[in-house]
Amino acid sequence: MQKRWENSVPEAAARATAPVPASFRVGALTLAPATVLAPMSGITDTVFRRFIRNLGGCGLIMTEFTSADGMLRDQRVRGRYLHFYDDEHPISAQLFGRDPAVLADAARMVEDLGFDLVDLNLGCPAKKVVKCNGGSGLLRNLPLIGRIFRQVRAAVKIPFTVKFRAGWNDNEIVCTDLARLAEACGLNAVALHARTREQGYGGQARWGWIAEVKQAVRIPVIGNGDIRAPQDAGAMVAQTGCDAVMIGRAAASNPWIFRQIAQWTARGACDQPSEADRYQMIRTYFHMLIEEEMPGAPGKMKQFASWFTHGVRNGSALRKAIYESHSEREILERVDQFFAAHHAAAPA
Ligand SMILES: Cc1cc2nc3c(=O)[nH]c(=O)nc-3n(C[C@H](O)[C@H](O)[C@H](O)COP(=O)(O)O)c2cc1C
Repeated sequence: MQKRWENSVPEAAARATAPVPASFRVGALTLAPATVLAPMSGITDTVFRRFIRNLGGCGLIMTEFTSADGMLRDQRVRGRYLHFYDDEHPISAQLFGRDPAVLADAARMVEDLGFDLVDLNLGCPAKKVVKCNGGSGLLRNLPLIGRIFRQVRAAVKIPFTVKFRAGWNDNEIVCTDLARLAEACGLNAVALHARTREQGYGGQARWGWIAEVKQAVRIPVIGNGDIRAPQDAGAMVAQTGCDAVMIGRAAASNPWIFRQIAQWTARGACDQPSEADRYQMIRTYFHMLIEEEMPGAPGKMKQFASWFTHGVRNGSALRKAIYESHSEREILERVDQFFAAHHAAAPA
């Protein structure tokens, strides 16, 4: 996950907050609480999704984006990106593509696989996706988006949602038009990452766009972008009136954020994880990766080590120990050794 935040103060800082709603409805589904784990390719696989679910406080989890073409053509794509377990419900599958008929077929398959919702990605800024007119590449072609919306809507009964950016660039902002189109075509909710495609992950998310979309439609609006701490979620709700909040990067470095939002909403304060909690978290996640026989588990462990070890005293030494390990078992041993030594050395 190279897409880190810039160092500037979040727009949310020092603003009023409002409670994050206890639930929201998407079609016939009630999702509680009104918090969503953002789809993140390379991160929100089945292990990470269940890990977040088990920690509590997250109302909806989503798969990584999956190529509609790829999943129809190749069983391995379905196995890799769309495999999920019973305890992941409610779960949404996110698709990308540009051909209405292909997307409709893929959505039908998503429904048959047992997903509770299907989501269309109109936000991915990656060049290889945009080049084929997928992801945010479609933001410049509302008529084609309309055709996709209608065909997918006709293909499935499960709730159908869309996640999009505000527009291609500051001169081509389409978020309210797009949300209205979604509503007119029978979609059940919209999620806005409040940046343009040109912004990538830089600058600030401009929550004003979420407020405009909320004013424009009656279907639920899920706000996304730069929620870094529990109080930011309340600030986004206060500033935009959104029905639910979606969190991406912060969940990878602080998987407790959903539970903390629930605590913050209930009592205006939240628990901070202790060193022992962090140790437990790292062990649990690593064990889950190994049990799943996830391809490239050691690589994932190293990737997550860089996020999970922030907040751990002398975390850089732990990161180094993990990076230098050669196998899953060695990584686990190094983690145990680090915390054993660390705890023994720590003052009572
Ligand atoms: C590593 C990474 C992978 C992402 N993959 C996806 C994806 O597959 N589908 C999608 O709609 N958005 C994807 N996003 C965007 C996030 O879902 C989210 O919109 C964005 O990170 C802003 O939210 P945040 O500030 O809470 O992180 C990705 C973001 C990151 C950092």
